[in-house]
Amino acid sequence: MSQTIRRIAINTGGGDAPGLNAVIRAVVLSALQRGWECVGIQDGYNGILTPDAYPDGGLIHLTRDSVRGITHLGGTILGTTNRGSPIAYPTLGDDGEWYERDRSDELVEKLGELGIDALVAIGGDGSLAIANVLSQKGVRVVGVPKTIDNDLAETVVTFGFDTAVSFAAEAVDRLHSTAEAHDRVMVVEVMGRYAGWIALHAGVAGTADAVLIPEIPYDIETVAEKIRERAARGRDFAIVVVAEGAHPVDGQRSVLGKTIGQQERLGGIGHQVADQLADLTGKETRTVVLGHLLRGGSPTTRDRILSLRFGSAAVRALAQGCFGCMVALDPPTVRYVPLSSAIARMKTVPLDSDTMQTARELGISFGD
Ligand code: F6P
Repeated sequence: MSQTIRRIAINTGGGDAPGLNAVIRAVVLSALQRGWECVGIQDGYNGILTPDAYPDGGLIHLTRDSVRGITHLGGTILGTTNRGSPIAYPTLGDDGEWYERDRSDELVEKLGELGIDALVAIGGDGSLAIANVLSQKGVRVVGVPKTIDNDLAETVVTFGFDTAVSFAAEAVDRLHSTAEAHDRVMVVEVMGRYAGWIALHAGVAGTADAVLIPEIPYDIETVAEKIRERAARGRDFAIVVVAEGAHPVDGQRSVLGKTIGQQERLGGIGHQVADQLADLTGKETRTVVLGHLLRGGSPTTRDRILSLRFGSAAVRALAQGCFGCMVALDPPTVRYVPLSSAIARMKTVPLDSDTMQTARELGISFGD
């Protein structure tokens, strides 16, 4: 790799999140202003690892025109995948079985052959762990923290979270009227993997009666009691927000499955909770799984601004020679933290945080 930066690559990895396109736009425009050329790698690193799968070779030349009018668009113009990690690449063996193969050395070599002097890797914990490996192998890389789950350490918030929470809170708002009209218990399952950020914030903002998060194993009887207490006060309906990673005190997370080269898929806990609450309270109960709706649509203004700031800051980091780092929000500014510390731990909901205290003082039950 040459010392001077002339050509950079951008990629988006893992699950998409609203704001990816805004980051891409800010990176491209900030880089072009410095006279750098920009290319986008399609579908994580697949554009480089499996170029033959793409009619135009897997790399997209990114110009001012390519990023025009995309700030408000969900998804990613580069495509993404959560089944293409270069350090655990799903590969079909001669025996017909799939296994995970480390292709990171091959990727580093190809980045060099393609004349890519630096990389902006936009992603969540998995993608940033890959970026850290690439950095250790000599690639000049800056990470940008993306995930609706908000579970990345070292940044106050990730982009995508605000959009997901806004949508979830609106869903909870809408469910209130139908729950009240029918005297029902509505259980809303939200994404978030092993962290309860989306459930907590949507539950507090949307005035849920109970919020079940992975950080606090719940006792379903406690939740049922909360619903009975409400009924005794003449409030014959209830809203329960359940994080997909929540689990009972004496039980496991609800896992839908796991395939090679991919993380386990969570889901199903909302239905379990609803069935149990129906049995325990005798009330009619319905479940709504918000799932991928939380990842779709246009980013909120807050997410757009954050994404644009992150993208621009990533290019400033490269220009300053700050490599192997991740841009992070540390209000009122954006700072750079080592990728290694960003991926060292998962950021879960602190149980002593004032948001948790507020929720409890508002009377929200966590099932504990
Ligand atoms: O990490 C983002 C996320 O949406 C999680 O909240 C969820 O568990 C997972 O991705 C779903 O992934 P997939 O798109 O593979 O179903």
